[in-house]
Amino acid sequence: MSKTALITGGSGGIGKQTAIHLAKEGYRVIITGRSHLSCTNAIIEIIKQSNNPNVDFIVSDFNSLKSIKALADEYLSKYNHLDILINNVGILKETKEFTDDGLEKNFAINVMAPYLLSKLLFNLLSTSKLGKIITLSGGVHPTEINFNNLQAEKSYLGIVTYSHSKLVMMTLMIAFGKTIIHPNIKSNICYPGQASTSMTRALTPKMFPWIFRLAFPILKYVNRIDKNNPDKSAQKASRSSIFLALNPNAEQLHNSYINYKCKNVKLPNAVTDFHNQHQITIYANKIIKDKLGIDINNLK
Ligand SMILES: NC(=O)c1ccc[n+]([C@@H]2O[C@H](COP(=O)([O-])OP(=O)(O)OC[C@H]3O[C@@H](n4cnc5c(N)ncnc54)[C@H](OP(=O)(O)O)[C@@H]3O)[C@@H](O)[C@H]2O)c1
Repeated sequence: MSKTALITGGSGGIGKQTAIHLAKEGYRVIITGRSHLSCTNAIIEIIKQSNNPNVDFIVSDFNSLKSIKALADEYLSKYNHLDILINNVGILKETKEFTDDGLEKNFAINVMAPYLLSKLLFNLLSTSKLGKIITLSGGVHPTEINFNNLQAEKSYLGIVTYSHSKLVMMTLMIAFGKTIIHPNIKSNICYPGQASTSMTRALTPKMFPWIFRLAFPILKYVNRIDKNNPDKSAQKASRSSIFLALNPNAEQLHNSYINYKCKNVKLPNAVTDFHNQHQITIYANKIIKDKLGIDINNLK
């Protein structure tokens, strides 16, 4: 049986380039995207570029925790195997928005979605010879978690709220990793580096603190598109996910943080702080219980 990878947000950007690479390596690849059209277009391209027809999709818009549960349920009903889960979807918004179940979107999609999906697919992953969970970080993070502003209750500013949510996600995923006693499951976090994707092409000055707004044209230039190869930067940014997925040197890594050069780097202090890990885990588990009625630590 082919090894199987599920890549959230594989219909575009870094996720699509990761999908092409894994398909080239002979993996059965299942991607997610928000629409039938974006997924169909993506799998046509992935199949063409990889010469591997074993590519499929599940449409999933992460607009509520129910939609994450529905994604996991559809995966479990269609496929009986999973070796690699890549939690690639991430969002960055100019203004504060809420999901259908009332969660602030950065928190819901950047923090809750990877955690919930990993938990829901954990039992299937544990039947793999080597099951991997790979989650993408944001790179630059604040030094502290603000527990009074987890869902931007006090303040919202695009890039700041996004970066904070990625720090919170890392803390939650590392806390989750510490509970994994199964020797065949490895969970790691990687930073892809900067790439020109739909996310970065939609950056606006309003997403940045005042001081950086002046430098906005430079920031935009850093994410410029290579007109001859628009996918080049996303290809480059898929390297750290691919390293964790495929490189034999990554097989024993667990709860590690890999940078865009595929180097194992130190996790931020806020992420390794036991108190932070404990607090965010309790908070996330309570939200899952409230919104889905599931005790996530006692899944059958
Ligand atoms: N690009 C960068 O410079 C950069 C830097 C640091 C970290 N990252 C991280 O790398 C990861 C990938 O980033 P990217 O730049 O490749 O992102 P992207 O281009 O915006 O990702 C597009 C993919 O995400 C899906 N998607 C977008 N919003 C969604 C939602 N609300 N629910 C479900 N799926 C959604 C899209 O589906 P559709 O095709 O249907 O729209 C598509 O498959 C993210 O976690 C991001 O935070 C990126």
